[in-house]
Amino acid sequence: MAKAKITYVCSKCGASSLGWLGKCPQCGDWNTLVQQISSPTAGPVRARAGRSTAVSLASVAAGAEERLPVPMGEVERVLGGGLVPGSVVLLSGEPGIGKSTLVLQLAMLLATDSARVLYVSGEESARQVSLRARRIGETPAELYLLAETSVEAILEEMAALQPTLTVVDSIQSVRIEEKTGSAGSVVQVRDSASLLARAAKEAESPLILIGHVTKSGAIAGPRVLEHMVDTVLYMEGDRYHAHRMLRSVKNRFGSTNEVGVFEMTQAGLEEVTNPSEAFLAERLVGASGSAVSVTMEGTRPILVEVQALTSRSALENVRRTANGFDYPRLLLLAAVLSKRVGLPLGQQDVFVNVVGGLHLNEPAADLAVAMAIASSAVDKPLAADVALVGEVGLSGEVRSVGHIERRVQEASRLGFKACVLPRSFGKSPRSPQGMELVPVRSLRDAMQALDLR
Ligand code: TYD
Ligand code: MG
Repeated sequence: MAKAKITYVCSKCGASSLGWLGKCPQCGDWNTLVQQISSPTAGPVRARAGRSTAVSLASVAAGAEERLPVPMGEVERVLGGGLVPGSVVLLSGEPGIGKSTLVLQLAMLLATDSARVLYVSGEESARQVSLRARRIGETPAELYLLAETSVEAILEEMAALQPTLTVVDSIQSVRIEEKTGSAGSVVQVRDSASLLARAAKEAESPLILIGHVTKSGAIAGPRVLEHMVDTVLYMEGDRYHAHRMLRSVKNRFGSTNEVGVFEMTQAGLEEVTNPSEAFLAERLVGASGSAVSVTMEGTRPILVEVQALTSRSALENVRRTANGFDYPRLLLLAAVLSKRVGLPLGQQDVFVNVVGGLHLNEPAADLAVAMAIASSAVDKPLAADVALVGEVGLSGEVRSVGHIERRVQEASRLGFKACVLPRSFGKSPRSPQGMELVPVRSLRDAMQALDLR
């Protein structure tokens, strides 16, 4: 009789080892290895009956896959089209960010369009889900709820109901009964996902799995699944702000370059089709220390307000605080402003905040951040209708960035009248009507152009 095989699997990154180790050889974390006992019934590899045979790739009909249309434009944008039959989408994000809300909404809309949807909730009771559904809207008859944590029971229900779409909320809450390990353990998460995915493939209907991650990534989960699924979506945002971003970090059927924007309201998530307008909505025009940048989220330009405040420090060591902006980048910009422009920031605390809970990862936001700081330091507001785009180098030079035309167009669409941008773009003459392009070579130039003296 075959003997049970014991291996050790890292609960963080999924690496496996034959013996127990205190430190994971792959991710280097301590005490993350857990024992995994493989089923003793699994015999040596044998050829299966009815196995597939190799086919000439050229003979495979490519045909556009029939996708299940997604009734939410922002989700469809991120997926790169509808849901592909038999595909598995993993939606991950921190607890409380709105994953269940988004998927329930999607399920309700699809079921209203008379698709049959099976929503499996392993975390919440039927009553809780129904309360949430009531907040969102009318519950359609074709939406089926299964409050269940047993994978075997879920598979049975999938076979009986033949849904057009299945949702499992969340993959960490379900377990295969005949296997050891509690729900949420690496082995259970991985094997449950693999069984559910196989069922979806066989039924040729899409499957959405919800998975939680924490900031430290400490909980076993989505990370081990990422290579098993076709699409990985990530929902993020600032818990204290209403805006949520949906990004794809892996997509077998589309680009990973698109971002969906939502706003959490009293009645579920609302799609934000005009993010620039939303992010500028509360801007206080005429205040010093405020600048507007145009950032690219995927292929989409979005206008955002950057705020800076400089104030004389009461402490011996001055403070620099960045919210929504890279901290080392802020230190760099403050140093460049001191050294190259002569702005006296040596005794000043500098605070930078990106409005709306957005995170500006792009170097193209440098110029706006630098000019917001300068504006606060000299206590003069920037003109309200100027947008700024450009990367700042260590010599105080303003360097070119990508997608300038798109950014300028978006600024123009929102009624901005001027755009300060890197000189290297100055030669390209295409500027939207009523938009003045102000090419600058350096931070000094920019300050002059903006009348910050
Ligand atoms: P939820 O979808 O449960 O998050 P997740 O599944 O990612 O853990 O939503 C979490 C938050 O959203 C919760 O704090 C309540 C809030 N919320 C609203 O503000 N409006 C709504 O209509 C709903 C359904 C939830
Ligand atoms: Mg949830």
